[in-house]
Amino acid sequence: MRHEIKVNKAKSSRINEVDFNNLAFGKEFSDHMFIADYSNGEWSNYRIEPMANIAFHPATSAFHYGQAIFEGLKAQKDKDGNVLVFRPDMNAKRMDISANRMGMPSLPEGLFLQAIEELIKLDASWVPTDANSSLYIRPFMIATDEYVGIRESEHYKFIIFTCPVGAYYSAPVNVYVSEEYIRAFPGGVGFAKCAGNYAASLYPLRFAKQEGYDQILWLDGIEKKYFQECGTMNVFFMIDNVLVTPPLDEGTILAGITRDSVITLAKEMGIKVEERNISVEEFLQAHKENRIQDAFGAGTAATIAPIKIVGYRHTKYELPDIETRTVSTAIKAKMNQIKNGDDAQKSAWVMKIDASEHVPV
Ligand code: COI
Repeated sequence: MRHEIKVNKAKSSRINEVDFNNLAFGKEFSDHMFIADYSNGEWSNYRIEPMANIAFHPATSAFHYGQAIFEGLKAQKDKDGNVLVFRPDMNAKRMDISANRMGMPSLPEGLFLQAIEELIKLDASWVPTDANSSLYIRPFMIATDEYVGIRESEHYKFIIFTCPVGAYYSAPVNVYVSEEYIRAFPGGVGFAKCAGNYAASLYPLRFAKQEGYDQILWLDGIEKKYFQECGTMNVFFMIDNVLVTPPLDEGTILAGITRDSVITLAKEMGIKVEERNISVEEFLQAHKENRIQDAFGAGTAATIAPIKIVGYRHTKYELPDIETRTVSTAIKAKMNQIKNGDDAQKSAWVMKIDASEHVPV
């Protein structure tokens, strides 16, 4: 079912103000945004408008009680200039899971996908062509009741904007194992992409950064023994030729779409993959015996971020030279091929948007 989306085009484009050769992450915004409103139990008023500030009442409930969820996905251009969005159906499904956990309304998958398609058709010229850049798509939903009491909001806004972005990390990352701060507990909201999970990580990260680390390697909250996530990414270790990543079954880990892609592609490449707990003890032992061959974080923003150092109890554990990381390098190359439309066998992983009918603003 196609939805009616009203379009109010920007009077002029800001694209010439952007240096596409020096893109940072998340600092430049394309010309348009998509907005939908939720009230009386249904979504309506679908529109694309010029990217602009939005006014909210100070009592808007998302500001106070944090009913706020988001997604992140990326688009690239193929050789023919079509825009390819990587696995957007997965983001639509995950957004629904997050919405459900946060007491927020479901959003039809078809609307999520159509909104991205229409928005990108309009702003197709904002999709970078450089191999290391992409268009980052940020859908999010917030509660908009103007009410100070605590309850599930009755009004919401679903918004999508896009940003041309360069690399999230410019170098391999150093991560510190936090024993003091915990990201998520069973029964909590670790699996939801809700704003509060990210807010709660910032104060602990301050201390890790002071010690020269880029991110925290989170431990489980019960035993403080097992790796969970690495900053805002899922974490992978290659130990004894097996690619290992923590399992999702406790509900404390975000089901990353890059995580799923890494697992699928690794298996297809004949690499043995295990979704199982990895303890700090196992890591230290394997490190001592030089059995760790690769380690990386996987997420939409960073794609695959090699981990150079794991810090634990003020000791730095160096991991193998980046040049020797054949597994993560091969998986990343494969993923790039798929994203660029160079892998016909995985064409189902990209939503192709024909941008030829696009009329620049
Ligand atoms: C992602 O990797 O997609 C993230 O969630 C990072 C984002 C918070 C910038």
